Amino acid sequence: MKFKLEVTDSHTKARAGEITTDHGVIQTPIFMPVGTAGSVKAVHQRELENDIKAQIILGNTYHLYLRPGLSTLEMAGGLHKFNGWEKPILTDSGGYQVYSLSGVRKIKEEGVTFRSHIDGSKHLFTPEGVMDTQRIIGADIIMAFDECTPYPCEYGYARRSMEMTHRWLKRCCDHFDQTQPKYGYSQTLFPIVQGSVYKDLRKQSAEMIASFEREGNAIGGLSVGEPAEDMYEMTEIVCDILPSDKPRYLMGVGTPVNILENIALGIDMFDCVMPTRNARNGMLFTKNGIINIKNERWKNDFSPIEEDSDLFADRNYSKAYLRHLAHSNEILGSQIATLHNLHFYIWLVSEARAKIIEGTFNEWKNKMVKQVAQRL
Ligand code: GUN
Repeated sequence: MKFKLEVTDSHTKARAGEITTDHGVIQTPIFMPVGTAGSVKAVHQRELENDIKAQIILGNTYHLYLRPGLSTLEMAGGLHKFNGWEKPILTDSGGYQVYSLSGVRKIKEEGVTFRSHIDGSKHLFTPEGVMDTQRIIGADIIMAFDECTPYPCEYGYARRSMEMTHRWLKRCCDHFDQTQPKYGYSQTLFPIVQGSVYKDLRKQSAEMIASFEREGNAIGGLSVGEPAEDMYEMTEIVCDILPSDKPRYLMGVGTPVNILENIALGIDMFDCVMPTRNARNGMLFTKNGIINIKNERWKNDFSPIEEDSDLFADRNYSKAYLRHLAHSNEILGSQIATLHNLHFYIWLVSEARAKIIEGTFNEWKNKMVKQVAQRL
């Protein structure tokens, strides 16, 4: 993997760059649609590529390990072959899902034992095992095994957890560096900064993570219920320490406003279930604000979902029709709303990139932050 930092904004810390992987180039800042179980819910690969213009998607180790399982993924030749997505893929390590999804779990120095949310079977994730699993899934960018602390989190717990995440990182790196990719293209490992909302812990963690000198770095443990101001404060502290010549990935973030504010602080990569999950509940993100398509207000509004959009679904379906589909629980409603939201998120980050390059990011960002947060 290579990262080229193209432009740094002179008014903010926003950056435009380019990541090159063996499956293609990613222009940053980027939003990565979440494809938990190897599928971005309700979207075909062709739509992802041609309509949404996604450059990279995300998969989850936790889900893929449980189902379809590693032997199927290995026989398929990795996730790219299995799901037909030929562009870059990033996998999260399970360091979040294991805590949020599995019922019974026990965290020890060795790793985490947990029960599958599917059939209750018992499993152990260790840093070494999670590296092997992500080698088999075959993602271009793989994540270190960490503990994402909940919010609120008492200082002592946050410190001990962060220290264990650092020890796990050493084990992840040692094991990753001793093993080979399985399918002939290279993979890279990103470590994850933790430390909850404590400035000194975030600083320590960022310094520790930077010292591993991997090809990119991530920030975890945010967008877990803390006030947005705390999130921005942590991002700022961490971005000041993480090297500027490597991509910075803020995990699990967030709303359109969160994305704009974090781009301004120096983040290059984002992922979040919000555009896909909320689409399936009728929430649409637009340039002019947030729409709940189920509201009475749209019942007889036959205007296009978004008039001046280059997305077919935005121009060719009306708000009234989408409202009807959402109320009738029609599958097509989820498909149209998901296409719309992902197209909007990717438009937002690509527009941010264009403005950074043009030198007008700050004014544009301040205007957009007001616009996209309105409730319509
Ligand atoms: N996704 C969102 N936050 C996190 C985190 O802290 N760790 C991991 N592994 N994934 C995440």
